[in-house]
Amino acid sequence: MNRSIISGTGRYIPPKLITNFDLEKEMNTSDKWIQQRSGIKERHYAEPGIGSSDLGYKAALKAIEDAQIDKSEIDFIIAATLSPDHYFPGIGVLIQAKLGLKNIGALDVRNQCSGFIYALSVADQFIRTGTYKKILLVAAEKQSANLDYSDDGRDLAVLFGDGGAAVIIEPGNSDEDRGILSTHLFSDGNYIEDLWMQRPSCKDHPCFSMDMITDKKLFPTMNGRNVFKTAIVKMPEAVRAALDQNNMTIEEVDHLIPHQANDRISQMVARNLKIPVEKVIRNIERYGNTTAASIPIALDEALEQGRIKPGDMIMLTAFGSGYTWASAAIRW
Ligand SMILES: CC(C)(COP(=O)(O)OP(=O)(O)OC[C@H]1O[C@@H](n2cnc3c(N)ncnc32)[C@H](O)[C@@H]1OP(=O)(O)O)[C@@H](O)C(=O)NCCC(=O)NCCS
Repeated sequence: MNRSIISGTGRYIPPKLITNFDLEKEMNTSDKWIQQRSGIKERHYAEPGIGSSDLGYKAALKAIEDAQIDKSEIDFIIAATLSPDHYFPGIGVLIQAKLGLKNIGALDVRNQCSGFIYALSVADQFIRTGTYKKILLVAAEKQSANLDYSDDGRDLAVLFGDGGAAVIIEPGNSDEDRGILSTHLFSDGNYIEDLWMQRPSCKDHPCFSMDMITDKKLFPTMNGRNVFKTAIVKMPEAVRAALDQNNMTIEEVDHLIPHQANDRISQMVARNLKIPVEKVIRNIERYGNTTAASIPIALDEALEQGRIKPGDMIMLTAFGSGYTWASAAIRW
């Protein structure tokens, strides 16, 4: 079976810049608090009327160009988001329609901050089995539309940003030692309440009510300390699973790309794994947490900066709501 390779990448970040100082005007927070606790200085917000599908579509065009393919060659789409344009359908079909592609499938993956690695794993299986030849994987988020900008929601509101990224996945040459070596996926649904958007819920009749607005049940809520404590354990565990499967040591990893949840989390994951922090790709300072999009945005940026060279060993890892966590080992 041929390994899958990432043959093109692209990102789209909406132009509107929101600094910590802008957020100080909305809620009782400070640039100092946000930087000390998370490492974030600024993030970008999409304008009203722009959805995750638009961010993902623009990123997809760049990835298609980077892979030097014609869009008509794409035979499957996978889209990851927790902030879809609509409750249903997902953004996969919207991106398919915007690209004008006909007679192909579009799958939506709902694994929040781990969404990109979960989607990558699905794409990898389809490529290895020969089912598809060129998969477009899009991860895009418009978090800014549903955050509580009052003091009640300041723990979450300061962390998140909007953005989209895309990759093209196709079979590599069997004589080349490169591509996706492994993916590892994990979950524990006992902790959904640590990071969730409780309502709307189809358990309720009706699933929407005015009480949900007044009780602020339509905003995501988080137990930040639990998420933090668990993330710094589970991401290294996922990376160790990948190292074990590939008979590799952490010294052989050239770049660790963790989901950009909080810069303190990324630094503690690096310390736990005993990987020098210089090998960790960190850009949360400028984007905040863009959930499913954070890893492919960081990957695309690192490639653009020339940090990643052919043959480098890249380790991706993520943790987020669900809980879900994951890793992927890629020889570039
Ligand atoms: C959210 C997070 C930054 C908070 O940092 P922390 O050091 O755990 O801070 P605490 O939750 O203990 O809160 C400390 C104080 O700051 C306050 N606070 C919370 N958000 C604040 C904000 N934006 N500005 C100012 N103060 C804030 C709290 O109310 C609390 O006040 P109190 O001591 O008077 O009760 C941190 O827990 C975190 O990053 N967790 C993981 C979040 C994450 O990654 N989520 C996505 C996962 S994919």
